[in-house]
Amino acid sequence: MRKILVTSALPYANGSIHLGHLLEGIQTDIFVRYQNYRGNEAYFFCADDTHGTPIMLAARREKISPEELVSRIQVEHLRDLQAFGIHYDNYYSTNTPENQFFSEDIYTKLKEKGSISSREISQSYCDHDKMFLPDRFIKGSCPKCSSPDQYGDGCEVCGANYSPGDLLDSRCAICSNKPVLKQSKHLFFKLKDYEVELQNWLSAERVDPAVRNKLNEWFQDGLQEWDISRDGPYFGFKIPGEEDKYFYVWLDAPIGYIASSKNYFEKKNPTLFEEFWKSESTEVIHFIGKDILYFHTLFWPAMLMGAGYRTPSRVNVHGFITVNGEKMSKSRGTFINAETFLKHQDPEHFRFYLSGKLNNSLDDLDLNFQDYTGKVNSDLIGNFVNIFSRVGTSILDKLDRKLGTVSPEGENLRRECLSVSEQIFGYYEDLSYSKAIKEIMKLGDSVNRYVNDNAPWNLIKTDPEKAREVVTNTLNAGKILASYLSPVLPKLTKEISDFLDCGEFNSANLSEKLENCTIKPYKMLSKRVDEKAIEKMIQESKPEENEKKSEEVKAPSKESGLIKIDDLAKVELRVGKIIEANGVEGADKLLNVKVDLGPLGVKNVFAGIKSAYKPEELLGLKVVVVANLEPRKMKFGISEAMLMASGKDTTLSLFVPHRDAEPGDLLK
Ligand code: 2FM
Ligand code: ZN
Repeated sequence: MRKILVTSALPYANGSIHLGHLLEGIQTDIFVRYQNYRGNEAYFFCADDTHGTPIMLAARREKISPEELVSRIQVEHLRDLQAFGIHYDNYYSTNTPENQFFSEDIYTKLKEKGSISSREISQSYCDHDKMFLPDRFIKGSCPKCSSPDQYGDGCEVCGANYSPGDLLDSRCAICSNKPVLKQSKHLFFKLKDYEVELQNWLSAERVDPAVRNKLNEWFQDGLQEWDISRDGPYFGFKIPGEEDKYFYVWLDAPIGYIASSKNYFEKKNPTLFEEFWKSESTEVIHFIGKDILYFHTLFWPAMLMGAGYRTPSRVNVHGFITVNGEKMSKSRGTFINAETFLKHQDPEHFRFYLSGKLNNSLDDLDLNFQDYTGKVNSDLIGNFVNIFSRVGTSILDKLDRKLGTVSPEGENLRRECLSVSEQIFGYYEDLSYSKAIKEIMKLGDSVNRYVNDNAPWNLIKTDPEKAREVVTNTLNAGKILASYLSPVLPKLTKEISDFLDCGEFNSANLSEKLENCTIKPYKMLSKRVDEKAIEKMIQESKPEENEKKSEEVKAPSKESGLIKIDDLAKVELRVGKIIEANGVEGADKLLNVKVDLGPLGVKNVFAGIKSAYKPEELLGLKVVVVANLEPRKMKFGISEAMLMASGKDTTLSLFVPHRDAEPGDLLK
């Protein structure tokens, strides 16, 4: 029996769980469920990744402590992931005593070994906010193509990569002041010291060949020292022996894998913790996306090597998820959160669809909703579920819901289903889930063909005992398929095992027969995909401007913000006069105003301006309004226009037209 500790990447605590997280969580969950199904001892650990500047600033914006913020997000993350059938043995947090202990332990050991160096570096600093600015918190014009409003790490328009100091007219993304360069001592992990050990580690099939090729490129370019420290203010763990220095979030994030398992095993089985992290007799397997390869295949194993911990047995890498052939996009409504998905779709449908497309590759996986509807309706419902629904209802009722014995023909069908078990297991083992699904669906076709050929709905009228035989053969074959699918569809197959009253599926009871037993009443197992619900889900995933932007906790978005001149001509800016203004119950940042637009009438607007204006100050004020905005349904009502403003929080200021301008005047 294998002992396997499995992890998926720790979601960052500054946003909601979306389809990308779900892809990874589900891929990992199927693997863990499969291992346990085979009688191995597999554990699944994860946590929220909680440290760093974006979290610190998000908490400040909400006027709460970072600890409060990350506790709240952790609850939401776990709720959403579990709703998709992802079962963790522990879903912990990186902001925990265990993680601090192991971060300090690993760092101290690396330092004792001489693997940490230090030197002064100069970095962008905001004198106003009194902090060093990470690349994503500096904006300016691209040094190559001059496009405005680009982040400090690269240009979204021309694709140039540069450092923040190269930006033209750079500014702090928080306060818009110009950053200055400031020196500070930083600590570095000497990755190059581990080059030979890393090469040896990699040669033992730790990663797939495609990943190996990518890594070879990095080895050829030469391994660089890694900056593992950040200056305060920073939300993270203080570095022992240093003044106001913190571990960079990426140092303690993977250590969260150890911390999460420690927290679990400490209560359940402390010696297993040692077995997993101090010896190589067990397996540690990570699942990650291709964007975080460098951290998991170079920094992470090298840190473990240096600190005398065991290294991962394998790192499995998947591609990104695209929707309808394109990168997920908020404006197209395809940046779909787990919570929204759940409102409109069955999570087991999503698990089934993903499995039908997942294979062991770095290629991106496309969620095409037309294909999704087709695959779920025809393969899952029309093929697999149909096996149970067509014999499990009235026909079985007429047979007092009793099975007979499997006939020779039924044995043939069972044999056909069982003959590919090793093949299917191999597909699960090497993460070629799509091949497993294809094989199972082929078997489903055979079983359905058998049912069609024998038409038990006719036999029940003419030869009930023959009908009993057909139903017995069908359900025995169906049981095998349900058993194969149990890692993918835990909820649906649990309902099937309850219906058959045959106990939990595993590979040891795969070939056990169901004979002379009673089958429970049939309950609807799964419904077809409703296409209207998909449309609704997409609509709901489109941003509701003010409310979403002000309430969401996030780092600056990466969208370029550039529009064409024709786009600008579409915007109708008009003078509006505020004739009514009120607070909005339950909204921290919104005011509800009525704006008189002269001949265009009065429009109702929800505006995120509460931090800077009291309702009574607004009465009679003339403002600039985007008058031709399509009305949007927001949480608190319909917003029919938008007020123009600049700045945020207390620096927010509404655009004001000339005092003689009349309500309804068009602004050019
Ligand atoms: O890329 C991310 O979202 C990171 N939060 C993943 C961390 S994985 C591990 F190293 F903790
Ligand atoms: Zn600033």
